[in-house]
Parts: sequence; structure tokens; C-alpha cells
Amino acid sequence: MKQTSKISQDVNRAATLLKKGALVAFATETVYGLGADASNPQALKKVFAAKGRPSDHPLIVHISDASQLSLWAKNIPDDAWKLAKAFWPGPLTLILERLPSVPDEVTGGLDTIALRIPKHPLALKLLNTFGSAIAAPSANRYGQVSPTSAQDVEEELGESISLILDGGRCSVGIESTIVDLSRAKPRVLRPGKITQEQLHSVLGNTLDTPLKAPKKYPGSKPSHYSPKAEVILSSWDNMEEKLEISLKAGKKVGLLSPHLPNKLFNGVTYLSLTQDCEEQAHQLYHLLRQADHLRLELLVVVMPEDSGIGHAVRDRLRRAAGLGHTEDII
Ligand code: TXA
Ligand code: MG
Repeated sequence: MKQTSKISQDVNRAATLLKKGALVAFATETVYGLGADASNPQALKKVFAAKGRPSDHPLIVHISDASQLSLWAKNIPDDAWKLAKAFWPGPLTLILERLPSVPDEVTGGLDTIALRIPKHPLALKLLNTFGSAIAAPSANRYGQVSPTSAQDVEEELGESISLILDGGRCSVGIESTIVDLSRAKPRVLRPGKITQEQLHSVLGNTLDTPLKAPKKYPGSKPSHYSPKAEVILSSWDNMEEKLEISLKAGKKVGLLSPHLPNKLFNGVTYLSLTQDCEEQAHQLYHLLRQADHLRLELLVVVMPEDSGIGHAVRDRLRRAAGLGHTEDII
């Protein structure tokens, strides 16, 4: 079929570019990644330059099979194999002790490494064709909203990358869950689609409780995943008041909410977030980018429910508002 052969041609081209040390963006089920050969320090340096990312922020290494863990990590605990069996390929990243051979550019000089097997068929095809691991952060400029379509990547980084492998809109829509297995008790560092409850069902009581207070791990700066508009978090009850204050300030105001307000406000752009939590995650970054396209200056956000993937959506919204991990938001 014509379509299939076009995809194969693109994947072959992408693998050849990676071998030459070029950058290739590709679809994963979470967000688009900006890929480089994980064994090539010169290629890895280009990732940091393209993103404008500080060099001490480590990258996630993408592999195609759990057996490849031992090419990158040592002292791999049983829990890692259990999680890999339960959730890979999928939106889960494991932090493990690194092998000395891992380039410092990947780990930002840390003695640990982040690894994941993505689930998107295009990402897996690329990994298998390339035949080696691909280091890939989200394909956005540092601190900005992660891209969930090829068009988003083109807008952010089009000039610095050789090829974008277009796999359509990302099904999950937010970044992978990160679990740190390099410590005595595994702990979630970044919430995602794979929830604390799902991890607990595999690991039982060895799983530590998530951190409530902001923790300084690389990439956890409080303002992350931010649109250009100032994000103001709200509950349903005080949303109207926050809209009124925002309008009085003479700003171009938007509302991101699963429900329409009872009272209609002139001059407020309504961005509809569905009520289904998986769908909220799927749409979140797309809507935050839409707020940028509409040149909104202030975005009032009604926080979604804290259940399932909603927990991770709330985390990203808190960071978009510059509030880090703090739970006391409103
Ligand atoms: O879903 C995802 O994880 C996407 C796709 C492309 O796979 N990737 C992604 O990469 O979100 P990035 O670079 O935007 O976020 C990776 C996060 C960063 O916060 C980084 O600090 C953290 O992973 N990380 C990487 N290595 C780490 C390590 N050794 N210890 C602690 N955190 C680490
Ligand atoms: Mg990122």
C-alpha cells in the first residue's frame, strides 16, 4: 500500500539521519519527542541547543525491548522488571542506576538514567529500524508546552530539525509517569497516565508515597509546561469572581473549564475541556497552545477532578501557573 511504503521510507530516512548525528522529531503516545542517537555526544549536544535547555537536565532514553535495560543501567531491581512487564510499551519512565559507559550528556552528570519503551507504532518502528537507543526530550523549547502534533513541533522547532515523523495527535497527550527506582523505595517523580494506584498494584507497599512539597530534581522547575498567557487556577465556585477581576484588569481573557459558567461574560474566550479525565489529558496541551494562538493574556482554569490521570493534569496545570507541585492551589 502506498501509505505504508511512504511511512517506511520516512522511517528509513529518519534512522539514516540519526546515524549521521542529526535530530529527528517523532510521535510517541504521550507527546512528540526530539530524538538523537543516545550514544553520540555530539548529536546529544544538538538537542540541548535546539531546545535551549540547560545541559544538566537529563534526557529520557527510548529503547524497544526491556532486555536493552542492561545496556544502559546496572543493579536493576526486580521492581523494574515487574513494571516493565506490566506497563511497557507504554507511558512509564524508569529511573535506574546508570552504567559508566552512558554519555554524560544523557544523564546531565547524574549517576542515574531514565529509560522507557514508547507504545506508538511509529516510535517503535523507528527504534527497531535505527537498531539502537534514542534519547528524546519533549520536542518543545525549554519550559514551553509539550507538542502533541507534528504541526506543534514544526511551529516550535521546525528550523532546527531534519525531519518530523508525523504519527497524528498523541493519544495520551501529557508526558510519561516517571518512577525513581534508584532509591530503596520506588517513588513517582512525575505523575502521568500510569497512576500511583496502578503502580501500587504491581509494587505493593514498596512504593513510597508521592512527594507533596516541591523537590529539586532536574526538570522540576515550578514554571514548566507554560503557555504565554498567565494561568490563574480556580475552583468552580470562585471562577466567576476570577473572570470579573481579570476582565477589569483590561486583559484578553480566556476560560478553560469542563462546564460553561451560568452567567455569560462578554469578552471571555471559552476553551472547552471535556469532563472525561483521559480526554482532558488528551486535549490539555492542544488547548494551551490554542490560548497562545488566540493571543490570550490571562487564562482562568477550572481545575479538573483529582482522579486517575486527572492527578497528572492538575500537576501540569499547577506548573503552567508557576506553582510547582504544591497542592494548595486555590
Ligand atoms: O513522555 C515522555 O516522557 C516524553 C516522550 C518524548 O517520551 N519525554 C519527556 O522528556 O517528557 P522531557 O525531557 O521533556 O522530560 C524528561 C524528564 C525531565 O523532567 C528530566 O529531568 C527527567 O525526565 N529525568 C531524566 N533523567 C532523569 C534522572 N536520571 N533522574 C531524575 N529525573 C530525570
Ligand atoms: Mg519536556
